[in-house]
Amino acid sequence: MRMTRYRAVLALLLAACAMPAWANRAAVATAEAHATAAAEEVLRAGGNAVDAAVAAGFALAVTYPEAGNLGGGGLATVWFGGKSYFLDYRERAPHQATATMYLDAKGEPIPNSSTIGARAAGVPGSVAGLYELHHRFGVLPWAHDLAPAITLASRGFVVPPGLADGSADEVTAMKGHTNFADYFRVRAGQRFKQPQLAAVLKRIATEGPDDFYKGRTADLIVKTMRRDHGLIDQADLADYKPVWRTPLEADTDGYHVITAPPPSSGGIALLQLLGMKSVRAADFQGVAPNSADYVHRVAEIEKRVFADRAEYLGDPDFVHVPVAALTDPSYLRARADEIDPKMPTATANVLPGLKEHHQTTHYSVLDRDGNAVAITYTLNDSFGSGAVVRGAGFLLNNEMDDFSIKPGVPNMYGVVGGDANAIAPGKRPLSSMTPTILTKDGHVALVVGTPGGSRIFTTVFQVIANWRDTGLSLKDAVALPRFHHQLLPDSVIYLEPKRTLDASVMQNLTARGYRFEDQGWSMGDVQAISITPEHVEAVSDPRGRGASVVIPKERDCPCASP
Ligand code: DON
Repeated sequence: MRMTRYRAVLALLLAACAMPAWANRAAVATAEAHATAAAEEVLRAGGNAVDAAVAAGFALAVTYPEAGNLGGGGLATVWFGGKSYFLDYRERAPHQATATMYLDAKGEPIPNSSTIGARAAGVPGSVAGLYELHHRFGVLPWAHDLAPAITLASRGFVVPPGLADGSADEVTAMKGHTNFADYFRVRAGQRFKQPQLAAVLKRIATEGPDDFYKGRTADLIVKTMRRDHGLIDQADLADYKPVWRTPLEADTDGYHVITAPPPSSGGIALLQLLGMKSVRAADFQGVAPNSADYVHRVAEIEKRVFADRAEYLGDPDFVHVPVAALTDPSYLRARADEIDPKMPTATANVLPGLKEHHQTTHYSVLDRDGNAVAITYTLNDSFGSGAVVRGAGFLLNNEMDDFSIKPGVPNMYGVVGGDANAIAPGKRPLSSMTPTILTKDGHVALVVGTPGGSRIFTTVFQVIANWRDTGLSLKDAVALPRFHHQLLPDSVIYLEPKRTLDASVMQNLTARGYRFEDQGWSMGDVQAISITPEHVEAVSDPRGRGASVVIPKERDCPCASP
């Protein structure tokens, strides 16, 4: 009898051990340790991936003010119950915005006007977006998911050196322009409490987004706008709605890719990058990542992606974006065929291809049922516009700079755009954010994304290619130095300050006509989770101060390892 029970228990344990990893492990990777802990707490309390994403989103708004936010917007790619979803909660231009609002009487850009202060802010979408995600998929009470953020804001947290350094730089940059220093002048090691923000979060926990868009917080935003010459008014806030959109999906090289549609350029760009690499697979055969031939071939693909981006992409609610044409396999084949595997094409010859005519944050969550959330959300620049909502203690975005403020004038990431991305009331600025999920055989295989402005989709591409095509572990795939080419400036490949290419590779590429520029900042802060039947790996980019965790299920067998 005893033997039979023993056998039964053993059989159960063995069955648990034999269960594929995707069925019994949750995981989180965010850009900041308190936010990872908040998501972990929610997952352990029985929350699903969406509950955890909501908890991380609000916690980041407290502990990662460079990019975590209530005053910005974001994009979420979701895999839930075996289906894909995409929520766009990007900021919108206020209804008083005009195409020329950042130009002077001579039609020239007014320095800093689209980047500093309340007038640079679009109507924030984060609170409405996180609420909508929770409303559709969450299983724990909304207030439960906000609780860790409220505690962090009211009791405070110890300021890490990275935040203190960033804050010091921003205090200097915003002096005489915004009220940033009144709220965010912090020192490393100091316990930083944010009572006004805690009060806002408590109201959102009890009243939901109504507080933010129609209630007391809305009043505080509008008062700040009036005082600081911003444009957002009551009607802009009351009208704000997140939008469920159809994610972009494609099968490529053994994986199914689910990624961001317009108003992000990221998904189209990622599918173009992956698609063109696939078409030219023979050119990449046996070519090591970051070798001279590899960098050259990827740079040539990137040039074509950026030529299309500048010409065709904008908010699909305002302009026709030829998504199908831009990602059509025959188009990508024709584009890839233009590439000389050895020498660069002259920039002037890389035209849009269709015939007919600096701080964001990403986090990735996986729950024990195999649901996954990839969210990239942002204030645009580090600490956004530097303008803080008075009496509410949160920063406003400067997402208006993601519009093309004048055709051909580069934005803060050096990318240009045209009419498709011109400012119009209610329009969403073109994004590069690329929250992405790869599935294989109907299961999530990779959850990935990053900040980095125009570097976002080239970074996501490099991580996917490093991991998928070279057999590197996710950790090594994320750590590898990154490079970036965006067509303009002519022949310039951007590199990271601390992780550069080998000298011999640079010499080789210089001989082919490339120039190298240290862009002065690390390229991306990837937060990713990979899942194979045997193994779950969660990785926070070594470039940032993120933290990741793999959470075994209670019934895991003792032999289980993350
Ligand atoms: O939506 C976008 O593409 C930009 N606002 C993202 C900004 C960003 O990634 C800043 N991080 N370095």
